[in-house]
Amino acid sequence: MFHALRVTAVERLTDDAAALTLAVPPGLRETYRYAPGQHIALRRVNEHGEEIRRTYSLCDPATPEPATLRVGVRLVEGGEFSTYALKELLEGDTVEVLPPTGRFVLPPRRGHFAAIVGGSGITPVLSIAATLLGREPGARFCLVRSDRTTASTMFLEEVADLKDRYPDRFQLVTVLSREDQRTGLASGRLDQERLTALLPALLPGEGVEGIDGWYLCGPLGLVESASAALRALDVPRARVHQEIFHAEPAPTAPPRVTLPDGAATVSATLEGRGGTWMAKEGESVLETVLRNRTDAPYACKGGVCGTCRVRLLAGEVHMDRNYALEPEELDAGYVLACQSHPVTPVVSVDFDA
Ligand code: FES
Repeated sequence: MFHALRVTAVERLTDDAAALTLAVPPGLRETYRYAPGQHIALRRVNEHGEEIRRTYSLCDPATPEPATLRVGVRLVEGGEFSTYALKELLEGDTVEVLPPTGRFVLPPRRGHFAAIVGGSGITPVLSIAATLLGREPGARFCLVRSDRTTASTMFLEEVADLKDRYPDRFQLVTVLSREDQRTGLASGRLDQERLTALLPALLPGEGVEGIDGWYLCGPLGLVESASAALRALDVPRARVHQEIFHAEPAPTAPPRVTLPDGAATVSATLEGRGGTWMAKEGESVLETVLRNRTDAPYACKGGVCGTCRVRLLAGEVHMDRNYALEPEELDAGYVLACQSHPVTPVVSVDFDA
């Protein structure tokens, strides 16, 4: 459930990005405990009475009882929430926040880990790397980050600080797509071909096979290129974790699934309470549930954030798209409620599983 948290700082990171810090009252610190890499959903009701939700990744190192939550917000063109967060939100305001969720996480452990991130994809990885290096002396981290220019790069100082604090255990490669080589940094785009050549060169000793976990985060194109490069380098899929930050709407409408007799019921358990409702034609499982239970969790409604994850207990659904769930979660019966449409007359899901 949402809680209203107070904004204690709004720090400019770049021309179009800021970090928001929210205070967590002592009684809620356990509720807002997060694993490095998780995100929170923020909500606001705009002047037309519409509810807008967005998820933002937590960027600070994880602690057992966080007194604050800090998220990185980049202005998205036409993005209502990011415009509000960057242009209107002030210290002292309150924002409604859901507890942290997400499975793009790395609980600290010994080993050598690597991340490939683009743009604001640095946000969860900053928390992952800082928590890991701070807590586990036997861990190493290699970060490959791409951005447009130095001026548009989020968390420059925090990343530089990791380099200073852990010179032997933190490796950083920055590639800028719109800055020339006079900066001394690599330039151009990080595509599959380039990554396939770059990654083995960066890890000369143990090679890509020596990396215990890969974390890919950023726009869809970069994550797809990085994942294809890792496949080409024979990295096992189970070692690759990914989180997409932006996915364009599907170019064509997903195929409409029609039930044989046109009717389906959706049963859902949410916060321990169950219900069964008729689905309307074309509706997603989330939409059916939301008509009856306004507390159903969701944020992006686009198959990207994973906030609406449910376990399918009975029946079958068709998922329009999925950029959030890992293959193991699909195998375990999880689906995204916002993308799922019933294809059997009876569908039963569990939001609590
Ligand atoms: S609400 Fe984000 S994936 Fe469904």
